[in-house]
Amino acid sequence: TIERTLILVKPDGVRRGLSGEILRRVEAKGYTLAAVELVHATPDQLATHYAEHEGKPFYAPLVDFMLSGPTLAVIAEGDGVIAGFRSLAGATDPTAAAPGTIRGDLGRDWGLKVQQNLVHGSDSPESAEREIGIWFPQS
Ligand code: CMP
Repeated sequence: TIERTLILVKPDGVRRGLSGEILRRVEAKGYTLAAVELVHATPDQLATHYAEHEGKPFYAPLVDFMLSGPTLAVIAEGDGVIAGFRSLAGATDPTAAAPGTIRGDLGRDWGLKVQQNLVHGSDSPESAEREIGIWFPQS
């Protein structure tokens, strides 16, 4: 069955001009882009999106980072797209992420308090629907 996932090109990816390269990889894999929007996140959106990380040491730097510039919000579709995009993205830590993945090829440690790891991808169908509601509230 066709799934949907929420992908974010985080502010580091937009700032570095990697949006096109990242979307190219999603499309080259065979997934379909159903919606793409440049969003300047609000504190409310981020508090909801990152609710599970509240209280962790990297939470405040993470929110500051996500407020530092626009994010490209994307809905991608296809069979297996949720797991498939996470596989394309690679490990959370860009230093450890395997070459061939978005984070492994394009990301690195910049010596900051938060891992600037270029992209986010939903981790389950439930997260995908919840997160699509946060980033595409009109849909
Ligand atoms: P993501 O998995 O999309 O959502 C949570 C984000 O928090 C994660 O990407 C990283 O950007 C950041 N993050 C997760 N773990 C750490 C950590 N240990 N230190 C700093 N930042 C982190």
